[in-house]
Amino acid sequence: MSASTRRAAGALGVVTLLSLPVSAADRPTAPGTAYPLLTSTSSPHNATSTDNEVSRGTALYWSYCGACHQANGEGVAGVFPPLKGSAVVNRADATKHIDIVLSGLQGARVSGVTYTNPMPALGATLSDADIAAIIDYERRAWGNHGSLVGPAQVASERARLK
Ligand code: HEC
Repeated sequence: MSASTRRAAGALGVVTLLSLPVSAADRPTAPGTAYPLLTSTSSPHNATSTDNEVSRGTALYWSYCGACHQANGEGVAGVFPPLKGSAVVNRADATKHIDIVLSGLQGARVSGVTYTNPMPALGATLSDADIAAIIDYERRAWGNHGSLVGPAQVASERARLK
């Protein structure tokens, strides 16, 4: 295990122990130093419910994905692939993006790199609404421009995979 893998795995252990949802006031500061950074990198919106979805998506991303794919979405070279600029994340059809979160991924080749670490399946852990919030966050963070999904699309994909 490389130092960066260990660090990511350790951080994941810590963040997944934090129970969600937590109010902004209760939210622990570690790894919260990255929250302002993540919030400021999401694209500007009107003050609508979309903002709530984005900030929920940001927090959930941190708890379930950020330890590996990192706050800046760039992953860890050769260990965890970047989501920033990823074809899966930017493709208009979000089916594969949803499938990977529901079912995980192993031994895939991403932009010429084969990752030895598996991506964990999170379908049993996360609700359709949580998965949609995370995916939509990823699709508008870090300059990404994938079309957005919603809980209904995640639900129908979950049903299709059964
Ligand atoms: C334990 C580390 C880890 C966690 C946590 C994790 N991933 Fe991954 N993810 C990976 C690895 C490793 C791969 C590459 C797997 C492969 O190619 O076989 C990957 C691949 C992906 C891909 C495909 C990227 C591409 O360009 O093909 C997407 C999308 C993705 N992850 C999204 C997520 C989301 C969303 C979450 C949180 C809900 C998450 N990941 C949590 C390790 C992780």
